Amino acid sequence: MASSPVLGSLADAYARANPRSHELYKRQQEVVPLGITHSTRLFEPFPLFIRACRGARKWDVDGHEYLDYWLGHGSFLLGHAHPVVNEAIAAQLPDGMHAGGETEIGLRWAELVRDLVPAAESVRFTSSGGEATQLALRVARAYTGRTKAIKFRHHFHGWHDAVAPGVYPPWEVPMAPGIAPGALADTIVLPGNEIGAVRAALAGGDVALVILEPGGGFSDTVPTDFGYLAELRQLTREAGAILIFDEVVTGFRYAVGGVQELTGVTPDLATLGKVVGGGLPAGALVGRAEVMAVLDTTGDRGRDRRERIPQYGTWNAMPVVAAAGVAALGLIADGEPTRIANERADQLRDGLNEVFAAAGLAAVAYGRSSIWKTYLGERPRLLDGDLSAAAADGERLAQGWGALGEPLRQALLLEGVDVMRTQGFTSAVHTEAEIDATVEAFARAIARLRAAGLLGER
Ligand SMILES: Cc1ncc(COP(=O)(O)O)c(C=O)c1O
Repeated sequence: MASSPVLGSLADAYARANPRSHELYKRQQEVVPLGITHSTRLFEPFPLFIRACRGARKWDVDGHEYLDYWLGHGSFLLGHAHPVVNEAIAAQLPDGMHAGGETEIGLRWAELVRDLVPAAESVRFTSSGGEATQLALRVARAYTGRTKAIKFRHHFHGWHDAVAPGVYPPWEVPMAPGIAPGALADTIVLPGNEIGAVRAALAGGDVALVILEPGGGFSDTVPTDFGYLAELRQLTREAGAILIFDEVVTGFRYAVGGVQELTGVTPDLATLGKVVGGGLPAGALVGRAEVMAVLDTTGDRGRDRRERIPQYGTWNAMPVVAAAGVAALGLIADGEPTRIANERADQLRDGLNEVFAAAGLAAVAYGRSSIWKTYLGERPRLLDGDLSAAAADGERLAQGWGALGEPLRQALLLEGVDVMRTQGFTSAVHTEAEIDATVEAFARAIARLRAAGLLGER
């Protein structure tokens, strides 16, 4: 295999270490476009094929062991293959995976979500986070009778059409082709953390909803200021627009009840995903009963057709997923897993900042809760709550490590650590010793980058 001129020796070392993954990748390319099943998993020179995941660790098909910080794209707050969750799934299997009817376990799942999440007076399950945000937009539009939606630069809400612009610059261009312009016509993209822009956009009285990742865009890469969140709450209330927190990532991490619990800012609607399903595919739309009532049919067929939303979805609240969700949320409910995962992420951030300082590298580890990030460059002011250059700081943070992100991950994999690009999540089963080992692996990975001549004068 020819080595990439950019990645050079690191790519060669990675390729030499992973012949079986390479073989499977070549086979997969013949049947799956680009040989990958999720665009985030695209990786040079080829992605790893993973054989098993348990606790905080995973193993690839070439026999390497890794400390894992992908954690199922953030789903495994309790770590992989948690025995209690696995047992709950196994206990449901003999009774069937799908009831074609309502189930007590599904009811228990909804009750748990209602008890744990402040906004959740009422709960509807979906099969993914993206479906939950899609339903949220429909509910907000039906409730208000308006169509315009405000979203923010860098904020990701799944891959469906209405939320496709404003994810990457240029902001007005959707993240992919294949979307009819009409589907985008009612989406207004604003810079984050600028309350004046929201005030102006709401002034016309035609905005149905404001949706955001309350921790910050791209799973908190570009942090949202909490004071701004409270202002958004007030402005949307005054304008009669629905405020939607997309807590697919932040739910159960910032606090058991998510950002809304931590900040005391309760949205009208919130979306959940990932952790809520205990690791099986799931999402949920939760919210104020009065707003969620647009999902209640009235029996008046004419009125229902005009004013009520039917919700379909073969896999909604299927009992095997509900069993996993109930088991996971039952463990999470007392706050201990969230507290431990947050503590481990604090330890990791502190350790990484020490490593960067010791290496004389202008880089920063940041993030809130068990969601951690790294950025290569001088510390942007936004990270300290200074919003004076928020838009420019946001664009810098979204760059992460730029072209060095790929070699950094290669070097970390060679050191036994798997991160999501230059960031990741911690779980309640990462130990302090594993975090220390990760910090040491980062130090060695940086030394590898330096030895490969990739850090230049940095
Ligand atoms: C904030 C946010 N919302 C929605 C989604 C979509 O969730 P899913 O991948 O379950 O459709 C994601 C996915 O990562 C996300 O990060």
